[in-house]
Amino acid sequence: MLVLGIETSCDETAAAVVKNGREVLSSDVSSSLDLHRFYGGVIPEIACRVHTEVISFVVDRALKKAGVGLDKIGLVAVTVGPGLVGALLVGISFAKALSFTRKIPIVGINHLEAHLFAHFLEKRLSGFPYIGMVVSGGHTILVCVKDNFSYRLLGSTRDDAGGEAFDKVAKILGLGYPGGPEIDRLSRRGDPGRIAFPRSYLEPGSLDFSFSGLKTAVLYFVNRHPEIRRNGSSITVGKGGETVTVYDVAAAFQDAVVDVLVEKAVRACAFKKIRRLVVGGGVSVNSRLRSRLKTEARKRKISVFFPETRFCLDNAAMVAGLGYRRYKKFGPDHLSITAAPNLGIG
Ligand code: KG4
Ligand code: ZN
Repeated sequence: MLVLGIETSCDETAAAVVKNGREVLSSDVSSSLDLHRFYGGVIPEIACRVHTEVISFVVDRALKKAGVGLDKIGLVAVTVGPGLVGALLVGISFAKALSFTRKIPIVGINHLEAHLFAHFLEKRLSGFPYIGMVVSGGHTILVCVKDNFSYRLLGSTRDDAGGEAFDKVAKILGLGYPGGPEIDRLSRRGDPGRIAFPRSYLEPGSLDFSFSGLKTAVLYFVNRHPEIRRNGSSITVGKGGETVTVYDVAAAFQDAVVDVLVEKAVRACAFKKIRRLVVGGGVSVNSRLRSRLKTEARKRKISVFFPETRFCLDNAAMVAGLGYRRYKKFGPDHLSITAAPNLGIG
C-alpha cells in the first residue's frame, strides 16, 4: 500500500510517499525557517501563511518524485498534533479535501509517536518493548513502548524542552536560529571542561527533565562576560586566569544537556528492565548526544537506535510510515478529525 504523509505542525511543510510503512519513495520538506530567523523563533502566523502557499506544490512534488499519481495512493496520513493550531489545520484541511474528493481513507497521526517511529523507516530495527526518548524543539519525553500504539509516559520536561534550551542559549550567545545545529558545530572547537554549568536531575529516581536553570546559568555567565559573544574572542575567568571562548561555553552547555538526557535515558531502561532505547526528534541529530548515548548504552548492554538524520527533523515520511501501521490496526479515521495542539502521549 502507498501512503501519502502530510506534516505541517510547525514551520516545515512536508509530504512523503511511503510503501508498506517502511520504504520511502519520496520525502519532500519545505521550510519557512528563513522567514523566522529575523525574529529568533517561529512566528505562527508566518508559518501558517507559508503552509497555505506551498502545500499543494509540496504534495505534488512528493508524488512526482515517487513517480505515482493520487490514483495509486491507498491512504492519507496527516499530523493532527501536537503543534501550532493554525499550522496543523492547513495540513489537516488539505488531507481531508484529498480524502473526500478522491475517496482515499485518512488517518490522523500524533507527531511525537511519529518521531519515535522514524527509526523504523528503511531499515528493520528495534522490536518491542523499548524505551523511547523524543527530544525536539517543543518536547522532551521518555516513554515505555510495549507495542505499536501502547505507550506509558515515564517523564517529561517541567519547563524548557531540550531543543528549546539549545535555541534559547544560542540566542543568548548571539548565534542564529535554530540554535541546536549552531551549538553542535561550535562545540566541536570547544573544551566542555572549562566551565561547570549545573545539571538538574530533580528528585532521586525522577525521570522528568528541567533545563531552565541551566539556561539561566548560561545567561548569567554571558551577562558577566558579554564580550564572549564575539566568535573567536576569549575572556579570562576564575582565580587561575583561565581563558574561555564562545566555543567552550557552547561545549559546556551542550555537555550539561547531554549528561542529563543520557542519565535519564539509561535510568529509564534500568527502571523498566528494558535493553532497547529509541531516540527521536530534532535534538537526536546532535553529535555529542549520539556518541555519549552509544558509549553509555554499550557499557550497560543496551541497544540504542537513532533515525537516519533526514528523518530526525520534522518530515512526512515518519507520518506516512506510522499511518500505515495505524490504519492496519485501527482502520480509517472519520473526516471529523481536527487539530489537537496539546496532544500528549501515554
Ligand atoms: O523535531 P524538530 O525538527 O521539530 C519539533 O518537533 O520541534 O526539532 C527541532 C529542534 C530545534 O530546537 C533545533 O534547535 C534542534 O531540534 N536541533 C538540534 C540539532 N539539530 C536540530 N539540537 C541539537 N543539536 C543538533 N544538531
Ligand atoms: Zn518534531
